[in-house]
Amino acid sequence: MKPADLRIDAGRLLRRLEALAQVGAIEGGGCCRVALSDEDKAGRDLVCGWMRELGLAVSVDPVGNIFGLRAGTDAQAAPVMTGSHIDTVRTGGRYDGNLGVLGGLEVVESLNDAGLATRRPLVVAVFTDEEGARFPPDMLGSLAYVGGMPLAEALDVVSIDGRRFGDELARIGYAGSAPLGTHKPHAYIELHVEQGPVLDAEGITIGAVEDLQGISWQEVSVTGQSNHAGTTPMRLRHDAGYCAAAIGTFLRTLAGEMGGGQVCTMGAVTLHPNLINVVAARAKVTADLRNTDELRLQEAERRLAAFLAELAQAEGVKIETRRLARFEPVRFDAGLADAIERHAARLGYTHRRMTSGAGHDAQMLARICPAAMVFVPSVGGISHNPAEHTEPADLAAGANVLLHTLLELAS
Ligand code: GLV
Ligand code: MN
Ligand code: MN
Repeated sequence: MKPADLRIDAGRLLRRLEALAQVGAIEGGGCCRVALSDEDKAGRDLVCGWMRELGLAVSVDPVGNIFGLRAGTDAQAAPVMTGSHIDTVRTGGRYDGNLGVLGGLEVVESLNDAGLATRRPLVVAVFTDEEGARFPPDMLGSLAYVGGMPLAEALDVVSIDGRRFGDELARIGYAGSAPLGTHKPHAYIELHVEQGPVLDAEGITIGAVEDLQGISWQEVSVTGQSNHAGTTPMRLRHDAGYCAAAIGTFLRTLAGEMGGGQVCTMGAVTLHPNLINVVAARAKVTADLRNTDELRLQEAERRLAAFLAELAQAEGVKIETRRLARFEPVRFDAGLADAIERHAARLGYTHRRMTSGAGHDAQMLARICPAAMVFVPSVGGISHNPAEHTEPADLAAGANVLLHTLLELAS
């Protein structure tokens, strides 16, 4: 068979997606495999087993990133890397991240079956803690891999449940010894579900991702005073619960006023003591701000800071912020995005250029090598939700585009 005629085995890809989705399965078809949990370990064990069955040389680095290497005919050549993550948010879908990893394994198995060798080695990577929902920032594993966070700092990150990253990583047995930055890639291509509405709404199969928006995460802590809900006049309150609500409302207003694709989310709130008849003494909320334009993102951050200062003054509370993540917008490699579109066209799939609204490991890899992403549609644009779905034909289309883009890069 000519390499150009090669296609992935869609049934096999679906079977692996289904098997991995059973690890940490939750109601509604989704997954809970939060980073460095027992479920994350079980998912890693499954994927590492598949890597070994496919003949890949498996290595793990000190932040738990996993690499499966398929040798090339030129042992000196830098490898072409693909991959993604298998950790999920607590109420995650079955495709976010998993498709990129298992799509990579499917490419390897298709090449093995066809007896096709590539000049450059191929590496399938599984990056640790892409979600960052337990151990912020997001993309922590790939950030450390590219040298954007010192190892000691990564290991000392504390989770929202009070555990140290290094301790949890050792506990699940994935504190590896391969040097950080191992297998420095010639190029990186990541297959992922869009997680947004664009491809589904337009009926287009393949997105060639050319840029990705900047991300600003902060935790906001409000300290007021608890008091009796019945006896305390409104003018004498220092109400952290009210402040939490006001911050949530402000974020929605800010996004509306700024327009232009600015998005703002308050995704987490905790109140203390969290009782019906007690004015809350403390609140912790999160602010997730994103924009493709760095200056606009900075403007959103400034406006949030000004609002918090006014609110603290008006309510007589203390408001402090802690930075959880900050990444500037990223432009991917235009030549790679062109190649993705060229392969999509040759394979007969509709395609378009697009932006990524979500964060991805590819944005970290773009710091050290040419990188780009292949998107496939998310039905209804639903993601970070157990109902996340992509049609089997679209999963297969994405894996076929990944196959041929990798083949070209590795030749
Ligand atoms: C990571 O998945 C993010 O975009 O929040
Ligand atoms: Mn993802
Ligand atoms: Mn995600």
